[in-house]
Formats: sequence, C-alpha cells, structure tokens
Amino acid sequence: MIQFQDIYLSFNGKTLFNGLSLSINEKNRIGLVGNNGTGKTTLFHIILGKITPDRGLVEVPKNKTIGYLPQDLVELEPINIIDFLKNVTGLKTVEATLKSCEHKMALTDPQSDQYQNLLKKYEEASHLFSVLDGYSFEAKSKKILHGLGFEEKDYDKLCTEFSGGWKMKILLASILLSNPDIMLLDEPTNHLDTENMEWLEKYLEDYPGTLVTISHDRRFLDKITQLTFEIFNGKLNFYHGNYSFYLKEKDQKRLLIEKEIETQRKKIEKTEAFIERFRYKATKATQVQSRIKMLERLDLVEMEKEAKPVSIHFPSGERSGLEVLKVEHLSKQYDGRFIFENINFSLYRGEKVALAGVNGAGKSTLTRIISGHEAPTSGQVIRGDKVKIAFFSQESAQNLNYAHTIWEEVNSIRTKMLDIEKRNLLGAFLFSGDDIYKPIPVLSGGEKARLTLVKILMNETNFLILDEPTNHLDMSTNELFQRALMEYKGTIFIVSHDRYFLDNIVERVIEIRDGKIYEYPGNYSYYNEKREQRQALFSGDSDQSEKEKTTQSKKREIRRIEAEARNFLSRKKREIQNRLLPIEDAISKLEKKKSENESLLCDPSILTDSDQVQTLMKELKETNEKITILMQKWETIAEEIDQLNTKEE
Ligand SMILES: Nc1ncnc2c1ncn2[C@@H]1O[C@H](COP(=O)(O)OP(=O)(O)OP(=O)(O)O)[C@@H](O)[C@H]1O
Ligand SMILES: [Mg+2]
Repeated sequence: MIQFQDIYLSFNGKTLFNGLSLSINEKNRIGLVGNNGTGKTTLFHIILGKITPDRGLVEVPKNKTIGYLPQDLVELEPINIIDFLKNVTGLKTVEATLKSCEHKMALTDPQSDQYQNLLKKYEEASHLFSVLDGYSFEAKSKKILHGLGFEEKDYDKLCTEFSGGWKMKILLASILLSNPDIMLLDEPTNHLDTENMEWLEKYLEDYPGTLVTISHDRRFLDKITQLTFEIFNGKLNFYHGNYSFYLKEKDQKRLLIEKEIETQRKKIEKTEAFIERFRYKATKATQVQSRIKMLERLDLVEMEKEAKPVSIHFPSGERSGLEVLKVEHLSKQYDGRFIFENINFSLYRGEKVALAGVNGAGKSTLTRIISGHEAPTSGQVIRGDKVKIAFFSQESAQNLNYAHTIWEEVNSIRTKMLDIEKRNLLGAFLFSGDDIYKPIPVLSGGEKARLTLVKILMNETNFLILDEPTNHLDMSTNELFQRALMEYKGTIFIVSHDRYFLDNIVERVIEIRDGKIYEYPGNYSYYNEKREQRQALFSGDSDQSEKEKTTQSKKREIRRIEAEARNFLSRKKREIQNRLLPIEDAISKLEKKKSENESLLCDPSILTDSDQVQTLMKELKETNEKITILMQKWETIAEEIDQLNTKEE
C-alpha cells in the first residue's frame, strides 16, 4: 500500500536516509523504532507529503484516509471538546447542512424542482449522518474521552483551557473517532498514564485499519504491534515480530556477526601465515599470489556502528539547607473544586522522592506550585536555605525559544561555565560539531527534551523537580539519565509513569489521592505493594452487614498504617535535624567571628600594634580549629541521614 524505494535525504549535508526502502501493507500493525534523531518523525512527514526526499520513490495511496498524531504539542481552537470532535470528523458540517435544508424546505413548495433538489441534498446528508453515527456520536466520543482520562466536568471547557498533554489526548480521541484507514501515531503514550495506556491498547486491538506507531515504550509496542521497523544508520531494518522479538533477533544477529568476524579473522591469520611461510618458495609462487589477491579482495565483515556511549553527570550546585522544602496547609482549587486540600509535607536534603497518583490527581499542579510556577489557593511553600530549584515539565520542554539555534539557546543562560564546558555538556547530550548550530524548530522530540535537560544542568542547582522527564528519550538516553539521577547529590522530586525508572531512583513515595497526601517510606515497588494491600483489604465477599463491619475496621486499620507511615519519616528526620541545627548555628557564629578577625587584621591602624595582632592571630587560629571540629561533627550527623535513607530502602 505505502512504498518507499531507495530514499535519500540529507539536511545541511548530514545524511539522514541513505537508501531507505519500506513497504507497508493493509492491516499491518507496525512499531517504528530507532534512537532519537534517526528520522522516525521525518519518515511520517514523508508519508504525509510534508517533506519530499532528495531522491527515491514514494508511493502513498490517494484514496485512503490518514489519521496523524504529531509528537509536538499542538494548538487547538477555543471551542468545547465535543464541538471540536464534531468539526474534525465532519459531523458539524453535516449537521449544518441538515439544519439549513430543513429550514429551506419548510419555506419551499413541495412540488417545485427546488424542493426536490433540497430533498436530495437532505437525504445525502442524512446518509452521512448515519455513517458518522450522528445519533450516538456524543456517547461514543465520551466513551473514548473517558478512556483517555477525561471527566464529565471537562466537556464544558474550551480546548484551549487544557494543558499540552491533554490537548494531545483530545487530538488522539479525534483520530480514534474518525476511524481512518491508516493511523500514524508519533509517541502516543507520552501523555498517557498506565490506566489510559491499557485502555488505548484494548481499543487499538479492535481497530481494523493499518497502524504505524512510534514509541519507546516496550510494553505498549509489545501489546499492539506485530511488525517492527527499525531505522538504523539511514536504512530500515525489518523484523517480523513485536518489540521483544526485535530485541531478541537483534541480539542474535549481533552474535552471528561476531562469530563471522571471528571466523574471518582466523582465516586471514591462516592465509597470512601461509604467505609468510612460502613467500620465497618458487614451487608455491602461484598459490601465494592467489592468496595475496584473495586477501586484497576480501570484504571485511563489520559490526554496524552504534552511537557512541556517553555519560551524563549532573553538576550539583552549592549544598542546600537540611530542610529543602516545607509544604504547609497547601490547597488548590480550580473552578470551585479542590484538587487537593490542606496538604503538609517536607523534603530533606538529598532525598529522592516520587510523587505518585492517578491521572488528574494533581501531580503536575503540585510540581508547578512547589517550583513557583503557579500560586496555591491557600497555604504556603517554604523553601529552605540556599535551595536552587530546576523545574522540568512537558511544557518547559516546549519553552525553548524557537528563534534560536541550540548554541544561542545555551548562551541565553547566565552561567559561569566556559564555552568549552558548554560544548562538552552539549556533546554528552549528543549535540556535537555543527549540530549545535541547528535551529530549534527542526529538532526532533528527543533532541528538544535533551536540550531542555542541558539548560537545567547549566544552572548548577541542588533541587530537581521533574515532571515526566523521560518522555521522548530513547532507551539508551533513558538509562544514562537514570544513572545520572541516581548519582545526583541534590534533592529530587519526580513524577513519572515509568515504574522501572522510578524504582531505581527513589527511596520515598508521596501519593496524592482524593486531594490528600499519603506517605510511603520505601521505593516504588514498596508503594505499589502497600497500595495493593490496601485495595485487597477493601475487597472480599462476605454478607453485607458483616462486610460493612469488617470494612469499617479495615478502614481504621488502613488509616492507622497510613498515619504511621506518614509520621515515620518526619519524626526521624526531625530528631536528626534538631541535633544539626545548633551545630549549624554555632558554625555560622564562628564564621562571622572569623571574618571579623580577618578584616581587623587587614586594618592598617591595628597592623602597627603587634600585641593586638598577636591576640587576633591566636583567636583566629582557635576559631578555625573550632570550626573544623564542628564541621566534622556536622558531617557525621549528615552521614547518619544518608544512612537513614539507605536503611529505609
Ligand atoms: N528541516 C530540518 N533541517 C535540519 N535538520 C533537520 C530538519 N528536520 C529534521 N532534522 C534533523 O533530522 C534528524 C531526525 O529528526 P526526526 O524528528 O525525524 O527524529 P526522530 O527519529 O523522530 O527522533 P525522536 O525520537 O527524538 O523524536 C534530527 O537530528 C533533526 O534535528
Ligand atoms: Mg520524533
């Protein structure tokens, strides 16, 4: 159905496609994979006719409808969701035609030709109306919207009032509703939580058309695809199976090539030995000659080059105070409805905490409030001493200046970093050589996400607030990023739907549920386990009154466990903090004294008085010694906190 033959495409002298061919047949369900920047989105753009390759043949059927979900955030019109869906699917026009025909027919003589024409038009529109399921359209739309996480109250809002991720979901709903012949989805799972994703997987199971989806999510790909196309070194590799199959095959292929390389190496060695041995023997001259020729003609088996591995290091800035953040009686209301109410918690230096909760629970809102990007309705967020925040969200990834090149964007940040350091950092994020002069609008999704992370890193912060930071990142970058976060010395507060990613990083989970906060002093698996236990406590099928009784006591038990967990961390931390505070106090007093002494020692009037200089010098020495002792004490206690964190794991 769709054919590419020997496609070549370069951007500014850099080859992206180097003889790429593919063929997509009807009802194929394809996962399109490849590292960031290998050209997945570009391939979609070629199918859609937005980009024409430099060379090669592209065949796309004209009579098929295509539904395309872009990777980048989109702008929608200021109308409500159902109207938007009616517009996109064409139902709005059909409804308008029906209405206008009805109106005109009422005013026209039924015997006239004009009336007959109107009737014909009316019948055509009625037919289209039933094809589009006009009568059940709203119910059908709401079913899809509900599956993607929308609630009844959302239907009156304008599309423009939704955040970027939700706008993508509206667009996705419109594609599902229009049921096109071909669906091209560019990373549809980026904006979905686990529940939505599972719903989408089920929905797509019944989709009868051709589906090509780009994704970095293994589980999603495994569920919905049967073929895998991999873009690698400018070409397309075809795998007859889902993503797991592809990984396995790729591994086997690698092993096979390794074996071939080894066999070839041995053969070359043997031949060279033969040549060496009989080089001067006249009787063997022809054999030696033919072997030399053979070596010259030999095609060396080579492993396809993978992108060079890099490592990312997050420079943590100055050490912050012990209590990094204190959230007090915080509430947030939208349109008179509480997202959360009277929540309280603290974060301490070096803690790595996940914020969990279902879609719409208010996770993003809370991160925006904590990072100072949005005001709460009431309550306050108190930041600790010397806390320097970096905030990453899907929207901030879009907040790049589209008039800039990468290099200009990086230089728009005030930093003490030298140019060479900036270039090294960009290099670590795979922007090397001339890449840094690329204009931002042409960057791929992963490249934009990487650039945003680079900008965050340049700020030398000590508190990272990250809202879904791994969307768009390919698997290898995802792993690098994970490792960098594990080594990060500062504090982390992170929202992510990637359980595996979180489990390796966090040691404490805060859940928002029904507008309240619940503490889990453990990693993400611990949180999941406890949550499941909680749910299990609620299930059971004894008789009704008995059930109510046990439910009551179970509820009490749950409340007790939760309260215990909630108090656990803050109690321990408070104890240690109480020991730290007086030391910190004493150190700052001594430091003040030290600097006073030092400035006195620079005073010319005192410098002439040798007795006073002696006394000041002695005092300065003693102060320094005291500071050293207190610092050691401080370090020991700080270590205790680190150990406490490890124990809690
Ligand atoms: N008009 C353009 N001019 C210059 N370079 C471009 C242009 N369009 C795309 N590129 C570059 O081509 C490469 C492929 O981009 P594309 O968006 O197709 O990648 P992708 O495979 O979708 O990556 P990701 O997984 O990050 O979304 C990127 O390096 C991008 O910067
Ligand atoms: Mg892309």
